[in-house]
Amino acid sequence: MWELVQETVSFIKAKTNFTPEYGVILGSGLGNFTADIQIEYTLPYTEIPNFPVSTVEGHKGALVFGTIGDKKVMAMQGRFHYYEGYSMQEVTFPVRVMKYLGINKLIVSNASGGVNPNYKVGDIVIIKDHINLVPEHPLRGKNDERFGPRFVNMSEPYSKKMIAQAKELAQKNNIEVKDGIYLGLQGPTFETLAEYKMVKIIGADCVGMSTVPEVIVARHMDLETFGISVITDMGDEESIETISHDEVLEAARNAEPKVRKLINELILKY
Ligand code: HPA
Repeated sequence: MWELVQETVSFIKAKTNFTPEYGVILGSGLGNFTADIQIEYTLPYTEIPNFPVSTVEGHKGALVFGTIGDKKVMAMQGRFHYYEGYSMQEVTFPVRVMKYLGINKLIVSNASGGVNPNYKVGDIVIIKDHINLVPEHPLRGKNDERFGPRFVNMSEPYSKKMIAQAKELAQKNNIEVKDGIYLGLQGPTFETLAEYKMVKIIGADCVGMSTVPEVIVARHMDLETFGISVITDMGDEESIETISHDEVLEAARNAEPKVRKLINELILKY
């Protein structure tokens, strides 16, 4: 893995000498974030050695390098999900590459289903912790100490300082945010009613199919991490029957301008 990562990093460095400080993984809810970046260089995934090969037709995937104000960022336009069939190593490979391209902070966004009764569709949730129930662990196997330790401390997976800063910026900009615990499941099915109930009982506020593997690998390499989620549906008995992928996307699109604004501010001010 180390050699593959370094090979990919060398390839990208030969293309651009841009050294990012922030890495951003764009999930549903932050899709158009790249419009805020003064883009310096774009590299499609298909041209990057060792990057997972997309199996989805017409899949748009690229690394975007550029600036927001005086901050240097790189964004992953399109992420890899475990439910698509990628191994956990493939799902998290880009996070390792971003680390060795220079990032020390990672911002991750996603869409999730809410189970906290204080949430509603369209809410923006700052992820303060997570529960990992994805059935394969990205760090399973021989540990390479060059990346990080065998046993990773997960007492602060999401940076308390970044969370505090983001909440302050949200208030200043009149953006309503909530916070909560995100539960990572494998998908691709949405949860049954019984499963939504379980999500709530075991102590999570929202549930989704991404983020947790990337954050674990980021913490393995000691990246400071921030996560944000858009509630695109509520896992309660009244609304569950109507949930469809299109509705998830629509709810995410509606919240997007606020999420974008908040992430922009965080990158500028943190
Ligand atoms: N469950 C899992 N993943 C999701 C959901 C959900 O309800 N909404 C958006 N992504």
